[in-house]
Amino acid sequence: MKVTNTAAAVAAYAFCCCTDLVSGGPVQKRGALDQLFEITTLGGMTFKIHQVPNKKFYGQRKGRGSMAIARAYSKYGAAIPDDLLSVIEEILRELGLLGNNDGAGNNSTADPQGEVAAVPQMFDSEYLCPVEIGTPPQTLNLDFDTGSSDLWVFSSETPANQVMGQDAWDIEQSSTAQLLTGESWAISYGDGSSSNGNVYLDRVSVGGVTVQNQAVESARNVSVSFTQRPDTDGLLGLAFGAINTVRPTQQKTFFENAISDLASPLFTANLRKAEPGNYNFGFVDRTEYTGDITFVPVNSSSGFWQFTSEGYSVAGSDAVSAPHEAIADTGTTLLFLPQEIADAYYSNVQGAVNDVRGAGGYVFPCAASLPDYTAIIGSHQAVIPGDFINFAPVDGNTFEDATTCFGGIQASPGNIRFAIYGDIFLKAQFVVFHGGNNQLGFANKPL
Ligand SMILES: *[C@@H]1O[C@H](CO)[C@@H](O)[C@H](O)[C@H]1NC(C)=O
Ligand SMILES: *[C@@H]1O[C@H](CO)[C@@H](O)[C@H](O)[C@H]1NC(C)=O
Ligand SMILES: *[C@@H]1O[C@H](CO)[C@@H](O)[C@H](O)[C@H]1NC(C)=O
Ligand SMILES: *[C@@H]1O[C@H](CO)[C@@H](O)[C@H](O)[C@H]1NC(C)=O
Repeated sequence: MKVTNTAAAVAAYAFCCCTDLVSGGPVQKRGALDQLFEITTLGGMTFKIHQVPNKKFYGQRKGRGSMAIARAYSKYGAAIPDDLLSVIEEILRELGLLGNNDGAGNNSTADPQGEVAAVPQMFDSEYLCPVEIGTPPQTLNLDFDTGSSDLWVFSSETPANQVMGQDAWDIEQSSTAQLLTGESWAISYGDGSSSNGNVYLDRVSVGGVTVQNQAVESARNVSVSFTQRPDTDGLLGLAFGAINTVRPTQQKTFFENAISDLASPLFTANLRKAEPGNYNFGFVDRTEYTGDITFVPVNSSSGFWQFTSEGYSVAGSDAVSAPHEAIADTGTTLLFLPQEIADAYYSNVQGAVNDVRGAGGYVFPCAASLPDYTAIIGSHQAVIPGDFINFAPVDGNTFEDATTCFGGIQASPGNIRFAIYGDIFLKAQFVVFHGGNNQLGFANKPL
C-alpha cells in the first residue's frame, strides 16, 4: 500500500531501546523523601522506564503543527474545523499519504476506510515505552498517555489491512491470556473514527513490575489514524479508571492495578525535548528536578489529572491572575491554554498571527524570539523556555528551510472545558502523579 511505501522511504532513524530496572526488590535507601511522601512501609517496587525514540517518527516536518492541533480536537471530541481539515488533507496529499487527485478525475486513496478526516498521529508521538504482555512475554512499544485510561494494542485480531508495520500482540501465543467474555471496548475520536475490540486479562510487565490480571484491550478495528502510525503498537492509559471504555465492566489502568505493589503510590514523568525521557514508578528521583516539588490537589471527577492554574507570566514580567482548570496529558503534544492567555502570550511575539484557516493556529516568523511562559500552579512557577514553544516549521520541512513557524502554545479547542498541559509544558517540568492522595507535583528541572 502507498502508506507503507511512503513511511518506509521517509523513516530516517534507527535507535535502540533500553529499560532500566532500578530496583526490583525491597528498597533500602530511604531518606527525606519518606517523610515527604509518607512512606511508612519498607519494601515495594520501584522502577524507571526509559522512553525509546519512535523509529518512524518523522521529525521536524511541515504540517506537524496542524496535525497536532487536529489530533487534540479529535482526542477530546471537538469537531475539526473544515478549514483545518483542508489544510491537513493538502499536507497528506503532498506526503503521499492520502490519494492523489491526479487531475484526470482519478482519485486514489490510501485510506482503507475512506476517512479523510482521520488525523495521522505519527507526527506526534516521538517516544514510546516498551511493555511486556503475556506468557512468554511479547514486547510492544506503547504510548504512555496520562490523558486516557485504556491499555489497548494491535493484536492477532486486528484485520491485516489495518496493520502497517506495528507489532501486534499474538493472543494465541500467550498461555496466560483469558478472554473476558461479554466485555468490549471502544474509543471514538472527534474525527468520527474509532478503535474497538475484545478484552483479555493477561500478565503485563512494565520495567519489572508485573500485574497478573491486567485488562488488555485487543483491537478488532483501529482508527485509520493509528494504522498510519507505524511504530506505535498501542496505548497505555494512565488517567483514572473512570474513563476506561470497557463495557459493561470498566477496567482499572496498569497504574491502578500496580499501585499497591509500588514503594510509593505514584509515578513521575520526565519528558525531554529532542531526547527520550523517562517515567519512574514508585519513587521520586531527586536528581531529576531542582528546587522543591509543589503539590496541588487533583480533581479526578472527570477521570483526568485535573488541576487549577492560577495564572501566568510572560518573559518574567508581573504575574497575571487568570485561574483556569487544566489537565496534565502526556498524550497531547501541545500546550493548549484559554484563548485569552494564548492571545496575551503571542502579543509579545512580533509578527505572530492566529492563522486558524491557513495553519490551524498561532504561527510566527521563525526568526522571532519567543519569550518564556511561566504557568503559576499553587505557589509554583513552572517556566517553559521560549525556545520550547517554537514547535514546528510550517512552510518547509526543517526550521532552517521555513520562514513561518508553528506555536507550541495554542488556544484550547472550542468546546473543551479545560486547558490541556501537553508535552510542550511537560518537557520543561518534572511532574509527580500521586495516586495515593490524588495530587500532582510540579518542579522545575535541568533543561
Ligand atoms: C477527486 O477529489 C477532489 C478533491 O478531493 C474532488 O473535488 C473530486 O470531485 C474528486 N474526483 C472524483 C472523480 O472523484
Ligand atoms: C486511475 O487509476 C487506475 C488504478 O490506479 C489506473 O489503472 C488508471 O490508469 C488511472 N486512470 C487515469 C486516467 O489516470
Ligand atoms: C470500524 O471503525 C469504523 C470507523 O472508525 C467503522 O465505520 C466500522 O464500522 C468499524 N467496524 C467495526 C467492525 O466495528
Ligand atoms: C471537579 O471538576 C468537576 C468537573 O470537571 C466540577 O464539576 C467540580 O465542581 C470540580 N470539583 C471541585 C471540588 O472543584
